[in-house]
Amino acid sequence: MQQFGIGLAGMGNVGAGVFKHLTLNRALLRERLGYEMAVQRIAVRDLGRDRGVEVPSHLLTTNWRELLEDPAIQIVVELMGQKQESLDFILGAIERKKIVVTGNKALLAEHGKEIFEAAFSHKVPVFFEAAVGGGIPIIKAIREAFVANHIQSIHGIVNGTSNYILTRMTEAGLGFAEALQEAQAAGYAEADPALDVNGGDAAHKAIILASLAYGFWVPPEKVFVEGIEHLTANDICFARQLGYRIKLLAIIKAESGEIEVRVHPTLIPEKHVLASVNGVFNAMAVKGDIVGESLFYGRGAGQDATTSAVLSDLAEAADALVSPRRNLGFMPHGLYGTCKPMDQIISEYYLRLTVDDRPGVIAQIAGILGELQIGISSILQPEAAEGEIASLVLMIHRATNAQIAAALAKISALSCVKKAPRMIRVEHFS
Ligand code: HSE
Repeated sequence: MQQFGIGLAGMGNVGAGVFKHLTLNRALLRERLGYEMAVQRIAVRDLGRDRGVEVPSHLLTTNWRELLEDPAIQIVVELMGQKQESLDFILGAIERKKIVVTGNKALLAEHGKEIFEAAFSHKVPVFFEAAVGGGIPIIKAIREAFVANHIQSIHGIVNGTSNYILTRMTEAGLGFAEALQEAQAAGYAEADPALDVNGGDAAHKAIILASLAYGFWVPPEKVFVEGIEHLTANDICFARQLGYRIKLLAIIKAESGEIEVRVHPTLIPEKHVLASVNGVFNAMAVKGDIVGESLFYGRGAGQDATTSAVLSDLAEAADALVSPRRNLGFMPHGLYGTCKPMDQIISEYYLRLTVDDRPGVIAQIAGILGELQIGISSILQPEAAEGEIASLVLMIHRATNAQIAAALAKISALSCVKKAPRMIRVEHFS
C-alpha cells in the first residue's frame, strides 16, 4: 500500500490529538483512503514535555527546518501557532513542494495572500479546515459544496470562548471575569485571551471565510472589530426583555461586487436559530443564491474537534499527491475586490442611555434622531422615581453607521445624558 510521510510542526493540544487519532483510527483511514499516512518527524519546543500521548522519541526534533529537508515527508502540518516562524515554515515547505496543512488562523488572516501566491507559483496546495470552526467543515463547504453559489451572507458565531462567556452571563448571571476564567480553565481560550474577548480571533476567522467566499484576501484593516469586553449584565437583561440575545457575530455580506466584513456584539432575535447556540459551540448560517439558507453547527474548539479537521485536510492532501488538482485550497477570482467602509454600512441599533428622569428628555433625544433622519422603532424605560437617573433604551430603525455616530455625538453632549451612551448593533437576517 502506498505510504505518505507527514511532518508535524508543533505538538501542543491539537498536534498531540493529530498524532493520537492518526494512530487510533489508522485502520479506518487506510480502508477509506487506500494508503497509509505515517508521521516521520515531529518538531517540538520541549523534548521532555508530557503531551498525554506516547510518541517514539526518535521522531522528535527541536528544529522544524529538519522537516523541510526530510525527503520522506510529503505533507507538513503546521500547528506551531507562531507568526514569523510559522510563515517561514509554510513558505519553506511550499518551495520544496510539500503540501501544507495548517490551522493558523491569525497567520492566514494576515498573510493569506502571500501564502497563496507562493502556493500558486509552486502549484502546491495549502489546506486550512482547522482554522475556522474547529470540527465544523465550513471551509470545505464554502470551497466545494457551494462552489456554484454567489454567497450572499455568512453570519457566524466563531469564537467559542466569547460565546461561552455570553452564555454564562445570560443564563447563570455570572460576571464577565468569572465566566472568562471558566472558559480558560476548560482550555478554550487563546494563549492570549485578549484575542477571544476583543473580537480579534473572530475577525481572523471572518477574514478567512470572507476571502474564501469572495475570492480575494480581505485586508485586515478593512474589517470592523469590536469585542465583548464592555458588555454589561444590564444590556444582556434589556436585550432579553426586548426578545433578543446578544452574540459576538461575524457578519459577512456582499452586494453589487462590494463586500462587508465586521465582528461585533449583536442583538439577534431570540427565535433565530443562532440565538440558541450556546456555550463553546460555534455556528455559521450561510446564504447562497442557489442553495438558499444553510446552517453549520458544532464544536468550534478543543483538541478532538480540531483534530478531526486536520485529519480531513491530511486525507485531502494525500489525494492531491495521488491526482494533482487545479484547486489549491483557495481559488482567487475577480468578481469582488472592494470592502464597504464601516461608515456606509447600514444596520439597526440598540441604544442604552443613562439620563435624568425629567420632562422633555425623550423629546430632546427624539429631536436629534429626527433631524438626522433616524427612526425609533421602540422605547423601553423602566420606572424610576421622578428626578432620579433612569435608563432609557431605544431600538433604532435602519441607519448607516455614520448617521448613528453623528447622533451619538450630539446625544452625548446633552446635559440630561449622564454617561456615555451604549450602542449595540441589531441583526434581523433579512
Ligand atoms: N479561542 C478559540 C475559541 C479557539 O474560543 O473559539 C478556536 O479557534
